[in-house]
Amino acid sequence: MKKIAIYPGTFDPFTYGHLDLVRRSLRTFDEVIIAVAPSLKKQPLFTIEERFAMIENSLRGYKRVRIEAFEGLLVDYVRKKKGIAIIRGLRAVSDFEYELQMALMNRRLNQQIETVFLMPSEEYSFLTATIVKEISSLGGPVKDLVPKPVEKELMKKFGSCA
Ligand SMILES: Nc1ncnc2c1ncn2[C@@H]1O[C@H](COP(=O)(O)OP(=O)(O)OP(=O)(O)O)[C@@H](O)[C@H]1O
Ligand SMILES: [Mg+2]
Repeated sequence: MKKIAIYPGTFDPFTYGHLDLVRRSLRTFDEVIIAVAPSLKKQPLFTIEERFAMIENSLRGYKRVRIEAFEGLLVDYVRKKKGIAIIRGLRAVSDFEYELQMALMNRRLNQQIETVFLMPSEEYSFLTATIVKEISSLGGPVKDLVPKPVEKELMKKFGSCA
């Protein structure tokens, strides 16, 4: 049976840290579904359609990756997609407490679904979508932090950078 993993997040916008995790997931799972959450509470910079399109354009050629928008309870969504695992990333210690809380709560909601934590390459260990937006809004370069299609959209939002 195909091993499907769900990688949920806000992806506002998709960064090389996210891409690093997708690639690592593909080594263990047959298929990865990137599940883009609206996350309206976070007041995203990009609409869900924009975020979706940027991921799509960044992952051309990745045949085992699907991108979907998702709403509602994550474990229900995972079950509907016949997923066996939720992928989450652990950067520096800061992610740990929140991620542990989420993973244990999701396990309580559905015992069959395992949360799998992946560590990014060291160079992306401190990379967040928030930092990317901050740098870009101040006119700084984000070339080494996000895929080209994302860089282009950021430049449209904030004007060109050096
Ligand atoms: N550089 C990275 N390395 C490892 N995991 C990451 C990285 N960036 C994001 N992730 C993980 O991807 C998942 C989805 O992240 P999310 O969409 O919140 O991105 P983010 O970069 O944390 O953005 P924000 O700054 O808005 O919180 C989370 O599990 C997060 O820990
Ligand atoms: Mg985050």
